[in-house]
Amino acid sequence: MTEYLTVTSASTEDESILRAAGVIRRGGLVAFPTETVYGLGADALNPRAVARIFAAKGRPTYDPLIVHLAGLEDLPRVAREIPEVVYRLAEAFWPGPLTLLLPRQDIVPENVTAGLPRVAVRIPAHPVACALLKASRTPIAAPSANRFGRTSPTSARHVLADLEGRIDLVLDGGPTDIGVESTVLDVSGGQPVILRPGGISRESLEALLGPVRLLTASPAGDSEPQVSPGLLDKHYAPRAELVLFHWRQSPAGVIEKMAEMAQERAARGELVGLLLADEDCEQFVDGAFQVFRLGSETGLEKIARSLFAGLRALDEAGVDVILARDFGEQGLGLAIRDRLRRAANRQVDV
Ligand code: TXA
Ligand code: MG
Repeated sequence: MTEYLTVTSASTEDESILRAAGVIRRGGLVAFPTETVYGLGADALNPRAVARIFAAKGRPTYDPLIVHLAGLEDLPRVAREIPEVVYRLAEAFWPGPLTLLLPRQDIVPENVTAGLPRVAVRIPAHPVACALLKASRTPIAAPSANRFGRTSPTSARHVLADLEGRIDLVLDGGPTDIGVESTVLDVSGGQPVILRPGGISRESLEALLGPVRLLTASPAGDSEPQVSPGLLDKHYAPRAELVLFHWRQSPAGVIEKMAEMAQERAARGELVGLLLADEDCEQFVDGAFQVFRLGSETGLEKIARSLFAGLRALDEAGVDVILARDFGEQGLGLAIRDRLRRAANRQVDV
């Protein structure tokens, strides 16, 4: 049985928070909202609790977990050899959707880092996550609270759809704000490298650090060594087939091509789902398709926030294929592209 509790006031005195903290302290699993997506948390210093995360998600043990902290003062407990740049990044972006890789302290169990020498850490900005971390008085290891390989959850309902009966408790703090996961950044070498684009944009990192390299995802099965296991795989996948459209000059041509393919597939008797910006919808007026509107293409925050809910909604509508479009690489566009790419069975350049 999975207990479900809504959080009304996110304080360390709140009954739901205290109950959830008790579950964490006893080695149980609690799903909770962060500002990015819902996380599936366990006591990061308890290897048996951490092992339960992998089991509940069906996640391979080579894929390491992010350790969440209540505050910067907890960082030296789990990480060492902390360079000055980490404090500059913390000042600018923590609490918030930035994850940093640092050499791990021995207190961090090996299964958290999948045996790697470094630990991924972040301080989340969501009031429920903060209250839970404080009340639990321990760092919390938490991947996204979905079954392995599926779309990350941005609501408590999504969590239950994937993990009901497999975890102890869900804290419902409403839909999450950012909607894509944190940016994973490696600052250990010369030039900083984004291992996973996310809620903190490349531009805002570059404003502070100078040029930042983006680790480009290579197709699964590639023989290149994986810098961050789990990051390059096909992932975030809806059940339906997903076709992603990229444009070279302008989005207009892309929408035309999407309309064409939509007609073709519908003519074959398939139920077609479309993941579109408000501006795109005029091309698809005849109502034969399942359309999910992500928001205006001029507001990438809204697009990112509704992206995973859109993929799940189209799946729930029972579509055979989802046609989605790229949103460029400015700001959150990069994270949106990364998630859609890794969910895609096929990509089309127009
Ligand atoms: O926004 C987020 O980051 C959410 C919320 C819950 O905090 N968490 C999240 O966790 O997305 P997860 O496990 O779904 O993705 C974290 C990724 C992993 O795929 C892993 O490859 C990478 O971060 N990672 C974690 N620890 C690492 C390590 N020690 N070395 C390299 N990569 C690591
Ligand atoms: Mg995940």
